[in-house]
Amino acid sequence: MSPTTEELERIRAEQTAVWDAVSDGWARWRADFERAASAVSDILIRKAGVRSGDSVLDFGTGLGEPALTAAEVVGATGRVVGVDLSPAMIDIAGSLAAGRDGVEFAVGGVEAAPGGHDVVLSRWVLSLTGDPTATLCDLRTALRPGGVLTAAVWGPAPSVPMIALGFGAVSEHFTLDPPPPGGPGPFALAEAARLREVTAAAGFRDIEVTQHDVGFTLDSPNAFARFTVDVLPPWLRRLADGDPEGVRKALERAAEAHLTPAGEVDLTSTCLCVRAVA
Ligand SMILES: C[S@@+](CC[C@H](N)C(=O)[O-])C[C@H]1O[C@@H](n2cnc3c(N)ncnc32)[C@H](O)[C@@H]1O
Repeated sequence: MSPTTEELERIRAEQTAVWDAVSDGWARWRADFERAASAVSDILIRKAGVRSGDSVLDFGTGLGEPALTAAEVVGATGRVVGVDLSPAMIDIAGSLAAGRDGVEFAVGGVEAAPGGHDVVLSRWVLSLTGDPTATLCDLRTALRPGGVLTAAVWGPAPSVPMIALGFGAVSEHFTLDPPPPGGPGPFALAEAARLREVTAAAGFRDIEVTQHDVGFTLDSPNAFARFTVDVLPPWLRRLADGDPEGVRKALERAAEAHLTPAGEVDLTSTCLCVRAVA
């Protein structure tokens, strides 16, 4: 059953609050994250066939990806608009874009950048909106006929240690119940068949889903512990702040199973990419 308008409003407000709260934390780890995540921006841009002069919408741009990378491809004759619910994320994206031509950022959802785009890109957002079919419908409407959508979502939690390992270890440390299934979250579209189904239900054609391993690494178990605490959603962060030593040890222990011979933490994670035509 689709969520009600009130539920969708609540989800939007919750997403805004969470991403506002973690924006500084993600900014601190942006270089480490993008070392591997940039490959996903490249895949989305290549699969969408972004060209010089294109008009591109980046839905849920966060700190500005894949918008900033796409801006290099569309050049001075093109235009990239990145939209995001979180004013704090958009603020940081805007400062990263300072001095670059052809890219702008706006606070909001799809409605903040209406109509006629050649391409819609979106990295790790579709599973967070609460109603992916409705979101994809809006994104199809934002494309010109024949325009292309490419979007990435995470695969199943056990294949995504970059996100699931730390949250899992902190939840286990505080013996928290897992979140109820079916709600928005990083793993809400983790099955290829489901991703294909919601994309088709939104009226897209020529749908293709591919799977990719993204080679995230962090320098050490301690870096992994610091990263995780920095990006914990506020309710988990409050718990973690009450027992910083216990949380650090739990996170470092969790990272030990992912150590490489060089002492780095290998957090290679699976993502699914969908390509579809409006
Ligand atoms: C996992 S982050 C991804 C950010 C960026 N695309 C990246 O790959 O680094 C998800 C982003 O989606 C945004 N978001 C969540 N729901 C949204 C919605 N309905 N409309 C616009 N942005 C949304 C959040 O504010 C957050 O910045």
